[in-house]
Amino acid sequence: MASPLTAIERHLVEQLLSPAASAQHSSGDVSHAELRPFVSEISRISRSYTGHEVGETLAQPVGSLLAAEAYALYYLPINAAKVAHLAPLVQSPKRCLKVLDFGSGPGTAPLALLATIPNNLEVVCVERSAPMRAVAERLLKSWKGSTSLSSLTLTPSLPQDGELFDVIIAANSLAELGQKDADVLLKRLLALLGPQGFLIMLEPGQPKHTRRLMEIRDTLIEDLTPLFPCTRSTLCPMLASSETDWCHGSLTWSQPPLSRQLDSLLGFNKHRIKYSAFVFQRGAELKPGVRVIVPAERTRRGIEITVCGEDFYGPVRIKKGQRSDDTRALEKSAVFDRVELSEPPQAELSQSVVTTSSEL
Ligand SMILES: C[S@@+](CC[C@H](N)C(=O)[O-])C[C@H]1O[C@@H](n2cnc3c(N)ncnc32)[C@H](O)[C@@H]1O
Repeated sequence: MASPLTAIERHLVEQLLSPAASAQHSSGDVSHAELRPFVSEISRISRSYTGHEVGETLAQPVGSLLAAEAYALYYLPINAAKVAHLAPLVQSPKRCLKVLDFGSGPGTAPLALLATIPNNLEVVCVERSAPMRAVAERLLKSWKGSTSLSSLTLTPSLPQDGELFDVIIAANSLAELGQKDADVLLKRLLALLGPQGFLIMLEPGQPKHTRRLMEIRDTLIEDLTPLFPCTRSTLCPMLASSETDWCHGSLTWSQPPLSRQLDSLLGFNKHRIKYSAFVFQRGAELKPGVRVIVPAERTRRGIEITVCGEDFYGPVRIKKGQRSDDTRALEKSAVFDRVELSEPPQAELSQSVVTTSSEL
């Protein structure tokens, strides 16, 4: 079976490119002539993102159908990969989940959820750009997978308070808001999140956007339980202890072929994708263990791994001569892996510690 991202790329090609390009995509590269108009739009959109000052409102860079399609062809699979990575955190006994996607663009996050989680979805896409809404409608309504889209609403503004959602997503959309609008939005999203509801916030993997998201995280912990990356319910120690550190990870994905071809035409490289994200759940238990922030580094005194957990932030050391099968999970863990230790983390781990690790 095709991976979720390969299936999503195939769907984009079938819906947005010509039948000839779709046939070419099945066996190799798509013709440059077909991609050329999209490539120049993607370059223009990219320049407007990189030139945008964090905390200022971004002037709408996607104002035409061509721009919305170009965004979908290039950015949708990249952002969907991040949502798909986090989607297993959304665990609910409900057969159908009500999903609100703020700044949905071409339907990136709902498509990623449809391709990865077992629940059917009732989706509300909030999107100010009419061409983005048109592309989202086309892509979501034509999606055929094992889980289904029970209903789809596309609207330029948030629903009234009173309606409650099981999953709320804001992916790469807070980045486009000025600070005042972002503050108002967060209050509204909190009011719309139902009991046991999940809030997924993703931002571009850049230091300033990430630091801003870390500040937002600190304002949400009174109401919501962090599920990712934090395994702590208190203020972010990285934010408090450094002016520059930013809590981010990077995904290695099997980049689908059109994404690779567009990268090569654009001179970009999304072989690995940096991301910053926070996932919360209302009324949930905190996850046990610590999150790896800096993976294993050799020092004179042993192996050090920087971790963050409920009562601990900093390096833990496995002393020379104490490495064993029991410490291997911690030693081998990557950034954002969650590691459980058989005893509370401390700067120097004891000889008897046993570690186990998982991705989420
Ligand atoms: C960078 S795109 C992200 C699209 C999608 N979430 C993704 O991750 O690929 C941000 C989207 O947010 C939308 N947006 C920004 N401000 C908005 C607002 N105040 N109301 C509704 N949509 C907004 C923009 O039009 C744009 O389509």
